[in-house]
Amino acid sequence: MNAQALPAEVVGQARVLVVDDEPDIRELLKDMLELEGHSVETAEDGLQAQQMLSDKRFDLVITDLQMPRVDGMQLIQSIRALDPDLPVIVMTAYPSMRSVIDVMKCGAVDFLPKPFQMDNVLYTVRRTLKEHALRLENRRLLAEVNNKAVIERLNRELHSKVEELTKLNVIAEHLGRLMDTDQLFDQVVQLAAALTEGRRVSLMLFDRRQQHLRIRASVGISPDLMRDTAVRLGEGIAGKVAQTRMPNRVTSRQAVSLGPGLCHGDRYASGSWVSVPLLIGDELFGVLNVTEREGQSDFGPEDERVLMALAEKAAAKVENNALYESLYDNLLDTLRSLITTIEAKDPYTHQHSQRVTELALALGKGAGLSRDQMESLRFATTLHDIGKIGVQDSILGKKGRLSAPEYETIKAHPVIGDRIVEPLGLSDAERDIIRHHHERIDGRGYPDSLCGDEVSTLARIVAVADAFDAMTSTRPYREALSIEAAIDELTRCSGQQFDPDIVDLLVQGIRDGAIRIPTLEEREVLSTAMAV
Ligand SMILES: [Fe+2]
Repeated sequence: MNAQALPAEVVGQARVLVVDDEPDIRELLKDMLELEGHSVETAEDGLQAQQMLSDKRFDLVITDLQMPRVDGMQLIQSIRALDPDLPVIVMTAYPSMRSVIDVMKCGAVDFLPKPFQMDNVLYTVRRTLKEHALRLENRRLLAEVNNKAVIERLNRELHSKVEELTKLNVIAEHLGRLMDTDQLFDQVVQLAAALTEGRRVSLMLFDRRQQHLRIRASVGISPDLMRDTAVRLGEGIAGKVAQTRMPNRVTSRQAVSLGPGLCHGDRYASGSWVSVPLLIGDELFGVLNVTEREGQSDFGPEDERVLMALAEKAAAKVENNALYESLYDNLLDTLRSLITTIEAKDPYTHQHSQRVTELALALGKGAGLSRDQMESLRFATTLHDIGKIGVQDSILGKKGRLSAPEYETIKAHPVIGDRIVEPLGLSDAERDIIRHHHERIDGRGYPDSLCGDEVSTLARIVAVADAFDAMTSTRPYREALSIEAAIDELTRCSGQQFDPDIVDLLVQGIRDGAIRIPTLEEREVLSTAMAV
């Protein structure tokens, strides 16, 4: 993403405080940001900044770390005590992985490495201000949610998890593109080969239960050897590196006197080699081995340092990926419990999202969706009504007809839902389901009045499943329709509101038994069991 990727109107004009003990840097940043239209004040150390922050309101603080009197970390801590929402960007030369994490844990939202690149400064400031504005908007939305204790608690959890996730996202962005762990390992062995000119590279993972190493990614090693290798702890070169957790480098001459040793798992590795441990904190998770340098020369200490740096970065990304994935799952669990809570308060909508998901998956299977599409359908349909947390209870559970303004409020839920999931990195197909599950193929749906092919297959499937479940559920203002009556209604609206092919799939599926709809009695039994 470049500096032009964020529209200027979302950023607006902000009050920025720049804190640095070097006058040149203060002036440079002030000039840069004032050209962007921001109003900028400066402080020469943390103490002066603390005084200014207690007198005036700022939208953003950009601070150095090493300063006399009160340093950057102390300043961030005092800002967090004063205003937990005020975003702080830290600038420093040569940030290490550890210092990035320490500062982020302390409450900074981003990093600006010195020396500055103008594009990077402007982009980082814009993005931080945009995220700040979104967070405030999210809070305003949440304030509209009813004040029942359980909802409030879930909202708080949601909010703090979104913040944590945002920080981890920032770290991930700074340390390179977030990739999955397999891609990461492949990239590590390719990089190791390219950086050291090693002909054969293996990344071995430590199996704690079996107490041995197995090759997970490699360059120049046969698939058979990869599959069959299992090096015990303490055995050969790789096993000793795993045991001692210390790197090991051997020249060709030393190798002759040592004799061949297990490196990539074979006994014929010869010549110079380097092996380094892969550690997260003190925990070993693998070993990276490089042998047989091109041109027959030996690996030197600089190769060992490069491999150690690569191992450290890979370990940090593995840790970050694991942390990110567990937080992400956690966050989605919270969103799902919010939906369950909203639906549970109203016996008419109890487990609605769950039933719609099951029906949508049955329709998706019948429509021959790909595995990825089915996964998106499963994931997003459980969240399709998440926007209802922004609609008052009194409207959601109203007995009797809704007034026109009340109906307009309900109609906002797909857009609110889309905004809630916006920072969470859902795929386009998943966001499309949340935003467009009330569109109609005749263009008379909401919120965007899409027409015909503009409505995606996945959104059409959810629209049919959603309507069918609503019709066959008892509502505050009417009894549940029978399955036959609901089919008649869907068929009547087929081609206008609903995709005729999807309606046919549903009708056929019910008729031939491929799709089974639980009876009202079965639902009640299930509801009671859940309540107990
Ligand atoms: Fe909906």
